[in-house]
Amino acid sequence: MPKFTDHAYYECINPDCGSRFDCGQTLFKCPDCGELLDIRYDWDKIPLPAKLEYFAKRWATRDARLDFSGVWRFRELLDFCPDEHKVTIGEGQTILQQNDQLGAELGISPGRLYLQYEGLNPSGSFKDNGMAAAFSHAKMVGIESCACASTGNTSASMAMYAHSCGLKSTVFIGAGRIAFGKLSQAMDYGAHTIQILGDFDDCMRHVQDVCARLKIYLVNSLNPFRIEGQKTIMFRVLEQFGWQVPDWIVVPGGNLGNSSAFGKAFFELKELGLIARIPRMAIVNASGAETLADLFNKKKLRWNKGRVDQEIIDDYYADLTAKDFSPHTCASAIEISRPVNLKKCLRALDICNGVVLTVSDEEIIDSKAQVGKYGLGCEPASAASVAGLKHLLGDGVIGPDETVVCILTGHALKDPDVTVNYHKEKQGQFSNPPVEAPNDLEQIIKLIKS
Ligand code: F0G
Repeated sequence: MPKFTDHAYYECINPDCGSRFDCGQTLFKCPDCGELLDIRYDWDKIPLPAKLEYFAKRWATRDARLDFSGVWRFRELLDFCPDEHKVTIGEGQTILQQNDQLGAELGISPGRLYLQYEGLNPSGSFKDNGMAAAFSHAKMVGIESCACASTGNTSASMAMYAHSCGLKSTVFIGAGRIAFGKLSQAMDYGAHTIQILGDFDDCMRHVQDVCARLKIYLVNSLNPFRIEGQKTIMFRVLEQFGWQVPDWIVVPGGNLGNSSAFGKAFFELKELGLIARIPRMAIVNASGAETLADLFNKKKLRWNKGRVDQEIIDDYYADLTAKDFSPHTCASAIEISRPVNLKKCLRALDICNGVVLTVSDEEIIDSKAQVGKYGLGCEPASAASVAGLKHLLGDGVIGPDETVVCILTGHALKDPDVTVNYHKEKQGQFSNPPVEAPNDLEQIIKLIKS
């Protein structure tokens, strides 16, 4: 096996195992104990900047492809592969928007609410951050075929990166479980799309077995390189705040890759002395897919220095199986009941003194309409963050003068059906249905004036 780097390696997150492996291998779980793997670095062997401000200089040289990338602009902080293998298609040109109008509706002070638009990525979701990193690793180790299970966005992003790198891609989706905008992307980008008569959790189980049997490269967020790429969402948030740390990050929770990545990003920045404090994090589940909220709030499951109580998880999942439970929410992107990154997410909650909460579908679609009305729009799962913020403000967990960043994970056009139905069927308080007009100028003018 060729050695590509002497300062990055896989490390098992289980403190009683802690096995390390070379990054030249393709691993998704620890071969010794089966736990999740991290990518870790010997920081003293990497030429790190003394201050985060250093990265701003790369704006001046963005004609260079790696400096243009919103992922690789921060390459020293995810230094697992030589530059010649790094894949980019221009991901991470995202906006942190101060939104005082929405803030006023939510009861938050002017200048305190920010929306991080990850839907502005090339495939329309945050996944591109993770795929840029995962496909770089795949190219580095010479992979030819990749696969994922998906609620839609992972498949769109994977298919786009796969065809741009010349890899074959296979998508596993639950039949009837993904929004058409996303399915259309996977098909358009040439993925082999397999619809399974089951939900995302079934797809996730099958894709792991298929990848192991057929030696296909898995690009779900079980892949620790995905997590490395998604750390950069937080680097860009800090960058847009002039490297100041906000008080809160609010993020929807599905397979829990983002929350895991954000916690790791802040832990590493603090460890390196590049930030002075870590923001708090709120993770928002949709009711109907609330495994994390149940385990964290009701069962009091904690990271516990890496010694997570597996029995609590096993009992919870056994109960889901006994009930033949399948998650259901209008936020199909986060319709997941067995999140693969659960333990890394518990670690992130520990690092960020985090909280977890649940919001209803009604709250999600109303919040989505508000993001559309005052901002650039987002898909339903993304709006769970804003719906969650309403609860946190109402309960006094977040104060009106705290600086809050809601992560808007996917573009509004990913799931137009939810938007159209919300407005046309007057499903909520922000519904804005089209008005029918007779084919007559005077009548049209009368309608517009009314
Ligand atoms: N928001 C959107 C728009 C998503 O597509 C997803 C996940 C999430 C939030 C949840 O993020 O897994 O990091 O907690 N979508 C995956 C997919 C599962 O297959 O596209 P997470």
